[in-house]
Formats: sequence, structure tokens, C-alpha cells
Amino acid sequence: MRMRNKYRKPTSFNYIAGSRCSLSTVVWSLVGFLLFLHLYSLVSHYGAKGGVAQFGTSHNPVIRELEEVEHENIQIPPPRKRSPRAAKRRPQKPTTLIDEFLDESSQLRHIFFPGMKTAIGPTNSDSNDSSYYYPGRIWLDTDGNPIQAHGGGILYDEKSRTYYWYGEYKDGPTFHVHKKAAARVDIIGVGCYSSKDLWSWKNEGIVLAAEETNETHDLHKSNVLERPKVIYNGYTGKYVMWMHIDDVNYTKAGVGVAVSDYPTGPFDYLYSKRPHGCESRDMTVFKDDDGMAYLIYSSEDNSELHIGPLTKDYLDVTHDVRKILVGQHREAPALFKHEGTYYMITSGCTGWAPNEALAHAAELVMGPWETMGNPCVGGNKMFRLTTFFAQSTFVIPLPGLPGSFIFMADRWNPADLRDSRYVWLPLIVGGPADRPLDYNFGFPAWPRVSIYWHKKWRLPSG
Ligand code: DGJ
Repeated sequence: MRMRNKYRKPTSFNYIAGSRCSLSTVVWSLVGFLLFLHLYSLVSHYGAKGGVAQFGTSHNPVIRELEEVEHENIQIPPPRKRSPRAAKRRPQKPTTLIDEFLDESSQLRHIFFPGMKTAIGPTNSDSNDSSYYYPGRIWLDTDGNPIQAHGGGILYDEKSRTYYWYGEYKDGPTFHVHKKAAARVDIIGVGCYSSKDLWSWKNEGIVLAAEETNETHDLHKSNVLERPKVIYNGYTGKYVMWMHIDDVNYTKAGVGVAVSDYPTGPFDYLYSKRPHGCESRDMTVFKDDDGMAYLIYSSEDNSELHIGPLTKDYLDVTHDVRKILVGQHREAPALFKHEGTYYMITSGCTGWAPNEALAHAAELVMGPWETMGNPCVGGNKMFRLTTFFAQSTFVIPLPGLPGSFIFMADRWNPADLRDSRYVWLPLIVGGPADRPLDYNFGFPAWPRVSIYWHKKWRLPSG
């Protein structure tokens, strides 16, 4: 017995001391681990470039210039005088900048939709203005005509070392099929423009044209063709176009596929379908570094996005699909990748009216995707809450400047859709995120994605 007691005491003492010891070890290990995680995320995301931490403002003077934002001080005009009777019938609501934007007769119209006099492009700019982007101004091609490539995307063709811009050719009258229907333009086709410098664009013509007579054809002019995107398939050597195909009421909700041997077409229209048997409206395609390509589309009444790989020839989707951003009601997806992380900009769902953009990130393209917040910087609050009065469509990586991109957006003009404008702005990945994500121990998981407002800017030379 004594022997046993003798043994027990120290044993129990060791046990208690051990538990205290292991508790504090666990706590300190956890603190250490969290600190390590935090430092690791900072180093891997910001410090990788030359070991310099970049918190928001870069040490690279070229990037710093892209990050210099401009501010907008737009005064809302005083309300128009109304007769006392009219005022009694319908009391005047306070006017916001977005009301002014949507009001065709607003005195501020020229701010959002400046006229031909200030158009940019190789035929209209003096040498001082050449190569400068002026978001929202009319942009002319090398023939001096306004570029028609709305809801578009860019393909960089390695073979010809040329950029190709594809988009909705909307140079027709805007009308409403019935009183409550959204504004529309009959399908004309997909416009294609080529460029070596991303500023001066040559019209390559309509590379996929509307069907004029056959009313049962997807491309019959009375239907909807939106957001065309082209990717090159290295395995088949074909250029593959994916697009949103719909009927006039947006109830068909499908994707269409077309193919060509050349980036400048003509593209042969193959078919349309509901991918994975699901509704598909706003969409894009994304080609990863390993040659795998993915279709991303708004589904389930635009309440969620779906993402799934394309087949090896890019002509169809596979059976694999994930639901992402479920319940978040996002559309106009634009995907890009930086240092192994996938990013996406999306818009809300408000028809042709602008709304707030959100940036999302994921470690794997198939998700899970996390929402980071509003990427817009500068302008003024209303500019930031409306994506600078525009809607995302594509993000182009800037070669030679890792972490720098061009954000492409459409400033829709529902009164005259052909006169919708392009808003191209620098997008930079870097700096701490606005708000830490819930399950990341309070530490930001990804660097911030920022889109900087400029009235006038240009790409760094070279
Ligand atoms: C918003 C979409 O992003 C556009 O592509 C277009 O479909 C409009 N809705 C139509 O209202």
C-alpha cells in the first residue's frame, strides 16, 4: 500500500503540473502558430516582390502612378421648378447622382456621357492625348467610328502577338418590346477589334453575325446575344467563342458556342444549351495557366453563380460543376489570377442600371469563393457604390507588371444602348484586405483588390 501511495502522489502531482504545462504549451503554440500564419500571409502576399512589404501603395513608381486616384465633386443641380398643382399631386423625391445618371434629360448628362467633341482614339486625339484612357468618353477605332464591343472580353493571340477585343455590336436602335420590358437592341452580331497596344483598335468586322430570316435560329435578330468571350484551344488550334444566348424575355437562359480557325473569324455557330441543365445568364470563360478552361455563369434566377470545367476541346462543359456565391445575387463575372490565387469581380443584378461591385477570391478555381468587398477606390462615394457608373465585363493582365491588370467595364446607356461607354481602369492586387474573413482567425486571407478611379490615365510605357 505504502509503495502504491508513494507512487500515486508524485504521479498525481505530475499529472496536474503536466496538464498546466500542456495547457500553456497549447496556448503559446496556438499564439505562435497564429503569428506565423499572419506573417506568412503578409510575406507571401506582399513581401514576395523583392521582400518589400507593400501595404496599399506600392513602392514601384509605375504602380504608384496607377494607384493615384482622382476625386469627383459633382454638384447635383437644384430641382426643376414645378407648378404647385404638380407638386401636390406627386411630391418631389430627393435626387441622387444615380437618378441623374438614369435621367436622359439631366443637366449632368454630359458628365456621364460626354459628346463626340471629346472622343478619344487614334483619329481624334492630338499627340498629348494619344494613348490616354478617358473612362466614359466615346472611343473611336482607327477608322474614326465609335467602338462597338459591349459586354466584351479580350484575347491575347500569342501567334500574331495581337490583342483581340470581342463584344456586342449594338449599333442599332434601342427599343422596348413592351412597356415593362428592358431596353434592347436587335442582335447584330459580335464585333471584333485588333490592337497591339490596347488603345488603338482596328475594326476587324462582325465575326459572328445575326440570322436575319430564320426565326427559330438562336441568333435570330429578335433574340439576345450578350457577353461573348473567346479563348484559344492549343490542343485543337481553334478559337472558341462562348456567349449568353437568350430570347427576348430572358427565359431561355442558355449559353452558345461558336468556333473559328482564326481570331478574326468568321465563327461558325455550333449550338446553345443550358449548361449542367441549369439556367445560365451573365457568363464568362476563364482559361487557366494549365490550359484548363472554365465556364462561370449566373444561375437560379441570378441568385448564385455556377462554375465548371470545359471539355478538352472547349466546345462543351463537363459534368463537374460547383455552386458558388450562393444567395449573393451576383452577375457580370470577370475572373483573373495572380500568384496562384483566383480573383473575380462581379456586379449586383439591377438590369442596365449600375450598382456596387464586389471582389471575390479563392485558392481553387472551383471554390470555395470568398467575398472580400468593394474594390473601387477614388471618385466619390456614389462613384464607388456604382462601380464608377459601370458594370464589370473582363480583367486583362498587364504583361511585365505582376499584380497589375486593366478592369474593363460597361457604362450602359439604356436610353441608347449603342452609345454605352467603356470604363477601363487600373486594377491592382496588393495591400491588406478591408475586412478579415470570419474563419481566418481575424487575419486577412487575401490581399486587397483595388480598382482606381482616373479621369485620364495611360498604361506604363513599354
Ligand atoms: C445586366 C447584364 O449584366 C447585362 O449583360 C444585360 O443582360 C442586362 N442586365 C439586361 O438588362
